[in-house]
Order: sequence, then structure tokens, then C-alpha cells
Amino acid sequence: MNLSRRVFVLGGAHTPFIGKFHPDFIWKGHAEFGKRENPSLEGHLAQATRDALETTSVPASAVDKAFVGNFAGELFCNQGHLGAALAGVDPGLALKPIMRVEGACASGGLAVACGLDAIGAGRDVVLVVGAEVQTTVSAKEGAKFLAAAAHFRTQRSIDPFTFPCLFARRVRHCREQGDILEDDLDRLVLKAYSNANRNQLAHMHAVTMTAETVVASDSNPRFLANPEFKDFLKVSDCSQVSDGASALVLVSEAGLEKLGRSQADAVELVGLGQATAPLEGDPSDPASLTTTAAAARSAYEAAGMGPEDMGVAEVHDCFSITELLMYEALGFAGAGEGVKLVRDGATELTGRIPVNTGGGLVAFGHPVGATGVKQLVEVARQIRGEAGGYQLETPPQAGICANMGGDDRTAVVTILKRCS
Ligand code: CAA
Repeated sequence: MNLSRRVFVLGGAHTPFIGKFHPDFIWKGHAEFGKRENPSLEGHLAQATRDALETTSVPASAVDKAFVGNFAGELFCNQGHLGAALAGVDPGLALKPIMRVEGACASGGLAVACGLDAIGAGRDVVLVVGAEVQTTVSAKEGAKFLAAAAHFRTQRSIDPFTFPCLFARRVRHCREQGDILEDDLDRLVLKAYSNANRNQLAHMHAVTMTAETVVASDSNPRFLANPEFKDFLKVSDCSQVSDGASALVLVSEAGLEKLGRSQADAVELVGLGQATAPLEGDPSDPASLTTTAAAARSAYEAAGMGPEDMGVAEVHDCFSITELLMYEALGFAGAGEGVKLVRDGATELTGRIPVNTGGGLVAFGHPVGATGVKQLVEVARQIRGEAGGYQLETPPQAGICANMGGDDRTAVVTILKRCS
């Protein structure tokens, strides 16, 4: 998508991403169980919004339009109509044009895309928020809700854990066709946890994953019921069932001026690509993320940049295999060659193209609607040298985000660049 006006990310914020095994999350095994409650969906939405407005010094009254990315508020929390929920967060947001956007796990990325369109259409200050609460039910009940992002009628029956099984199917295919080993995927999991251990906001911040625990079958079971795919996925390969929210402020050049800010305060959003594939049917090639690759091509074209220009990436690792396939979809490696990046350590914090520096969906967590917004905040922080415990030694000049809905059916790829 070519941008008709320049767009800048002024900054943003995340709530802590929390769920089972996070010290502040209350669940059956937690000392505070029954005494305190976890934050609600509206609570997460409000906290991220207030923190984003505060950190960017943007008064709510200056916001021209806002979008909320959320997948399944109705299912997990009996709560829809989240545009109106955002309008209640600050008196300055009341009566503003606000709407909720849904595209499964790409809901956040789509909310960013809507923000860009709004700026293209003449708005100058746009608030983009993503939020999800998924811990109101067990992981197994939640898996049924998440299966609404697949083609429910034909794919739900693959396994009670529908999405983990759809991606175990990709693992099986890749393992049978190529030279990806279980050990390669374990290495990606270890990277994710090690990065999250440096990130105070990560769901798995306090959990240590080691070469021993990642292969321990008692604490890290192969939990799928479907015998065809059971051997191809462990608990540790999965993204977390997390609660949380992220928010960011997008502005035009005129918006910067109105707010009394300069480009030096911002990171430029130079390209966005969006692609959508039919919901029904199996992937034509289980070893490729063809929809994400199409979105990446348009984002690179719009930015006038290529994979070699990227110094950091946030990719949608809903499962460990997805991260590896994302390397190829974004052009960091050729078809079938993503595994080399894993073996060379190229995507670790000290590598050539660090990926998911704060822990990714596997260990930072995956509050579905928040993820696509979180990715931009993360890349902007790395470019500006504001990533704290997991800041790259040399802040990158540019970075890319890839957010995916369903089994590679909706994809949003964005490119951010340091303002020169
Ligand atoms: N031995 C054998 N089996 C075991 C076991 C053990 N020691 N421990 C657990 N299990 C099995 C059991 O079958 C258990 O189910 P039951 O309790 O009903 O028997 C099942 O594993 C889950 O166990 P838990 O409930 O204890 O698991 P958990 O709460 O720790 O969650 C997880 C682990 C199931 C992997 C969960 O984190 C998960 O579902 N993650 C994936 C979330 C997901 O799919 N997100 C969407 C990604 S797809 C995407 O991003 C695109 C989109 O648009 C949706």
C-alpha cells in the first residue's frame, strides 16, 4: 500500500501480558486465588490507552479517531462493542469516532491498517489499541473459541486444540519434507524464553526454560489428542493464553505540528502490506506462509526497502514452527532455508537479524487482539533505543512486523524506519 501521507508512530505502551505462570496472575495455584481478581478486558484496554497517551504526552482530546483490535471479547468475556468501551476511558475520547476491528489474531494489525487509512483520509492523530482477555475459561474451552479463527465447520474436528493441531500438521509436513529437526524448534523456544526473561512485561518473564526442561515429557507434554499429529508439538511450542493490551499513537506530519512535536520524537511507518486468503480449505503448501509473503512483498514495495534493510523483526510465532516459516515469508531466508538462521543463531539478540526480542508470542505472550499493536510498539522501541533489558546493542535503522490471523489467512506486515 503506497501511503498518500507520511505516517509516524509517536510511541505506545503495553500492559503486562499475564496468564498462568505469571507471578501477578491469579489462578487456582496462586496464593491470592479467591481473594483478588485479574484485570478485566476493559481494565486492560484502559490501562494501555492511558499509558500510551501519557508516554507520548498526547491529550485524549487531541485524538481524531481511534480503533480497537479485538478478536473474541464476546466469547471470552461476554463483551462486544469495544469502540464504546474505549470512549469511556477518558472524557477526552467521548463522542470521538471509534470502532472495533476483527481479523482473528491479526485484529491488532488490522487496527493499525485502519489507522493508516484514517491518516490517508485526512485525520492527523489516531489512537490504535489492541486488547484481549482469554483466561476466563480453561485452555481447552478457549481452544474452541480460538477455533472460530479457522474454518470451524470443517477444521474444528481435527483436535480439541484446533490451532495447535493445525500447526502440528505444518510441523509434520516440514519434518517429513525438509531437514527441520525437533531440536531446531526447541532452540527457537529457548530463544523466546531467554528474551522474555529480560522483559518485565512478558507473560513468561519468571519462567526458566532450559535445554533439559524443553525436552522433559512430564512437564512439557505432547498434549494433542489426534494421533497423526501428537508427536509433532509440545506445550512449549505454543504461544501463551494471555490477557493484556497494547496501544500506540499514529500521527501525520500535520499531527506532529499540532502536537508541537518533531520527527525526532517519532519513528516513521514507511510501508504496510495486507493480504487475505479464503477461510475454507487447507494451505496449498504447508511449508510456506503464502499470504504473509504476499503482504510482505507489498510492504517492502511501499517502503522501497528489502529484507536486507531490516535490523529487527517482530513475527507472529503463534507456534515455534511459525517463526521459522516467517523467516522465509519475510525474505530473510530462501524457501526451505529458514532453519539455517536458527542454527547460526542469526535471529538471537546478538545475531544478524534479531527476531522477537521481547520473547514473541511464545513467551512475551499472545493476548490475541493486542499482538499486532504490540509488534509496532516493540520495533519502535528498539529503533529508539528504549527496549530496556532486551535493547539491541546498536539500535536498528529499520524493522518489520508480521501479524497473522488464522492459519495464514489474514496477514498484515508493517515496516518502521528511524526518522532521518
Ligand atoms: N501429560 C499429558 N497430557 C497433559 C499433561 C501431562 N502431564 N499436562 C497437560 N496435558 C494435556 C491435557 O490434555 C490437558 O487438557 P485437560 O486438562 O483437559 O486434560 C491439556 O494438555 C492442556 O493442559 P493445561 O490445561 O494444563 O494447559 P495449559 O493451561 O498450561 O495450556 C496450552 C497449555 C494448551 C499449550 C495453551 O497454552 C495453549 O492452548 N496455547 C495455544 C494458544 C493458541 O492456540 N493461540 C492461538 C494461536 S493461533 C494464531 O495466533 C492465529 C489465530 O488467528 C488464532
